[in-house]
Amino acid sequence: MRKVDQILEKKAVILLGIESSCDDTSMAVLVDGKVASNVTYNQTIHAKYGGVIPEWASRKHMEAVVPVMEEALLTAKCSLQDLDGIAVTRGPGLMGSLVVGLCFAKGLSYSLDIPLMLVNHLEAHVLSLLIEEPKPEFPFLCLTVSGGHTQLVIVRDYDRLEVIGHTLDDAAGEAFDKTGKLLGLGYPAGPEMDKLARIGKPIFKFPISKMKGLDYSFSGLKTSVLYFLKDRLKEDPHFITDHLNDLCASIQYTIVEILCHQLVKASEQNGIKRIGIAGGVSANSGLREKLHALAQKHSWEVFMPKMEYCTDNAAMIAMGGFQKWKKGLFAEDDIEPLARMPIGT
Ligand code: KG4
Ligand code: ZN
Repeated sequence: MRKVDQILEKKAVILLGIESSCDDTSMAVLVDGKVASNVTYNQTIHAKYGGVIPEWASRKHMEAVVPVMEEALLTAKCSLQDLDGIAVTRGPGLMGSLVVGLCFAKGLSYSLDIPLMLVNHLEAHVLSLLIEEPKPEFPFLCLTVSGGHTQLVIVRDYDRLEVIGHTLDDAAGEAFDKTGKLLGLGYPAGPEMDKLARIGKPIFKFPISKMKGLDYSFSGLKTSVLYFLKDRLKEDPHFITDHLNDLCASIQYTIVEILCHQLVKASEQNGIKRIGIAGGVSANSGLREKLHALAQKHSWEVFMPKMEYCTDNAAMIAMGGFQKWKKGLFAEDDIEPLARMPIGT
């Protein structure tokens, strides 16, 4: 009997998820669609450089893959021999980082003679809403907000996702990171800005771009923060340090308003009141609070991933792989990573 057929006869399906698309090395064990472990190693090396250095990211992934996998297996109390399949991020992401994860996954799949499932990182962020209860019923609307992408997606089923709006320039995470850099915060600036914003007040006004359709634009915000700071620093060289909390609160307020303006429009235009957020920026406390307020106002049912599933993680990749597993959608031997990979590919 073929190994795959033997596996399909087994009751519990045990998958290893692997995520390495940017600067986080993450592995997760999923048992029949439930997370048994999710271990993420964050590369801190990029912090002082204001962005991810791709070559270092790949090297750090190479160092981390084996220890992260061992910890994920240990936490889930299983061994390599218990695995029934490997799910891995194919793209989008940094090419070098993707190569490390995909080669490692291919090697495991080949040596253990178990199938490999390829997962789209952006689709996986959406699936992070379906990891834990309460899960949204289909169809729902998802605002995916990460360091590289900002998308409004109608999710009709696990494999029927329709992008109805996206950013034309910077992503929401980039807006946090780039304006944070102007304030002297390390990379990524989002979490730090969120922390400082909680003790500040949004007293400075920045333009809230309201695009006609359902797309986004954040580059204007970065420019207006830059010129605002230049002006104020001329009069007071300590302006940033003296007003850091209020500046963070004001920038965060503006980003959240821009995000939610289009989200409300998308909900109204499509008549969908089940609303989710996903991706690194969905960890933002201001966005989460605003979503609860909008839920009250518009009678929405809102869904947000648990913190560890907001930023890059392998549990969501394993979840994507599990959907492919159920359909027998296994990868061929000669596949390659895709730095650009739109939803649906
Ligand atoms: O989804 P993610 O981990 O990686 C990508 O796929 O890009 O998102 C990372 C982004 C970074 O831009 C980071 O600054 C932002 O998510 N982020 C936050 C928060 N936590 C992470 N932004 C605002 N508030 C947060 N609490
Ligand atoms: Zn991501």
